[in-house]
Amino acid sequence: MKNNKNQCTEFLKWALPQLGLRWEGYRRVKRQVCKRINARIAFLQLSGFGSYKEYLSKNPGEWTILDGMMHISISRFFRDHKSWELLGDSLLPELAARAVGENRPLRCWSVGCASGEEPYSLAILYHQILKNSFPSLDFQLIATDANTDLLQRAAKACYPAGNVKNVPAKWLQSSFNKTNGEYCLHDNMKNTVTFLRQDIREELPDEQFDLIFCKNLVGMYFATEIAIEVYNRIAEKIRHKGFLFTGNHEPVPIEKLSGMQIYNRGLNIFKKCDS
Ligand SMILES: C[S@@+](CC[C@H](N)C(=O)[O-])C[C@H]1O[C@@H](n2cnc3c(N)ncnc32)[C@H](O)[C@@H]1O
Repeated sequence: MKNNKNQCTEFLKWALPQLGLRWEGYRRVKRQVCKRINARIAFLQLSGFGSYKEYLSKNPGEWTILDGMMHISISRFFRDHKSWELLGDSLLPELAARAVGENRPLRCWSVGCASGEEPYSLAILYHQILKNSFPSLDFQLIATDANTDLLQRAAKACYPAGNVKNVPAKWLQSSFNKTNGEYCLHDNMKNTVTFLRQDIREELPDEQFDLIFCKNLVGMYFATEIAIEVYNRIAEKIRHKGFLFTGNHEPVPIEKLSGMQIYNRGLNIFKKCDS
């Protein structure tokens, strides 16, 4: 077994750079990806990592399948709760007031949205704290992910208790129905989010956004050069004085991002300040 673990580590250190991904990001989650790769090796009836390498060299299409196996789906509602508090208490009302004042929609985007936990947290904030104070606000929220299985789960919007444990108790009651041990989000909140399948390395939405969430994806898993390129494309999509939220523990090469300034270092929140 130990031998298999070591072989998988060696394999990942070899394969990840070729996919434009970084080994350091996968160190903590290697068990999850090694399990998937072992299952794939068994499915292909290969003898181990050595023959899988050979298979990859003879079947270039297999790299796309391997890339898909590298999608880490861990998420939960109101992850990094201090960022959500700051958002709900001040940033979101500030952005809403500006959008209403300028007579335009408030647009938000969740990149790498997994099974919907992140965009639906934002939908809950909108319904619970913003809607009453800004009745004329046109709130638009899109969420993208490269993984269709996760997007299908997002469309169902039903979650085990562990995923909703950070939802404040009063909102858990008023936002979810408990059915067969799962928490299912109310339809009005569910319908606030538009989901799209997009690979952030290849495609971005057309609009400009007031608020972008790109958490626990680009800085965590992408190789540095690719992360800089992707973050800069994302930064171009942010309006002047808009915000980029990244994961609290994610390395972000902020000095290489054009037009972005640190807004809150500890929470890894950045603000667009066009000169
Ligand atoms: C660790 S989850 C993060 C979920 C959520 N943002 C959070 O912080 O809780 C990373 C997500 O990014 C998605 N992902 C991975 N590579 C992607 C890519 N190239 N383009 C878009 N989404 C991607 C995965 O499918 C997964 O849902």
